[in-house]
Amino acid sequence: MQLSIAPHDRVFVLTGAGISAESGLPTFRAEDGLWAGHRVEDVCTPEAWDRNPAQVWEFYSMRRQAAQRAQPNPAHFALAALEARLGERLLVCTQNVDDLHERAGSTRLLHMHGELAKSRCERECGRPPVEDRRLYASLDQVPFCVCGGRLRPHIVFFGETPLEMERIQRELAAATCMLVVGTSGSVYPAANFVHWARRSGARTIYVGPEAPLNAEAFSQVIEGRAGEILPDLFGQG
Ligand code: APR
Repeated sequence: MQLSIAPHDRVFVLTGAGISAESGLPTFRAEDGLWAGHRVEDVCTPEAWDRNPAQVWEFYSMRRQAAQRAQPNPAHFALAALEARLGERLLVCTQNVDDLHERAGSTRLLHMHGELAKSRCERECGRPPVEDRRLYASLDQVPFCVCGGRLRPHIVFFGETPLEMERIQRELAAATCMLVVGTSGSVYPAANFVHWARRSGARTIYVGPEAPLNAEAFSQVIEGRAGEILPDLFGQG
């Protein structure tokens, strides 16, 4: 089936780890997921950073390496092709920190949970994140900011505020169609976005192999793998 997009439609796409699953990157909450092998409180909280920055860098260096080795899959390319068709009427908001959307050609994109390919000062010194793809085998390899703070992964830890929330709220309020791909609906505020879109009267469609926790909020749930569904959904099959 094909998603009908009218000339007046503005499309807001939210992606999660599931869109990168067919690129070989693990999701979080599957049996063999990232949180099955690591404890959030050890690697993805401000307290973990303060207590053991070496362990945090070990985890994110492993994830950086995995993302660098992965390739975009047909789902990423389908969204990039949809952007070529819709232009500024499309925005992709990803929870993912890999750069597979960018490498597939998406430019109208924002990373609400940060980016693996960037690091930033651990202090609120005001300096912006820097491009950084290095893998740190030990803490003494990790550079410092000019202010003296140590560089940390540019990742939104649990308990921290997601990025670009004002822009997300504006874009959701203007959206007439919201497509959600490959996210379990376990984490907020992202799991609320579908409710915000419905309040604005948008159509809400979910794509993934299993219904998300917030399935009741979707006007349509299309069960399947993103790499197989999206090209046909956008009429690119
Ligand atoms: N195509 C589409 N969806 C898929 C595929 C696939 N090939 N394979 C798995 N999925 C779905 C799963 O069914 C699941 O619903 O992807 C979803 C992944 O869910 P999670 O592992 O919970 O990942 P996500 O929802 O992105 O997590 C949100 O939680 O841990 C934090 O910050 C982290 O951004 C992450 C956030």
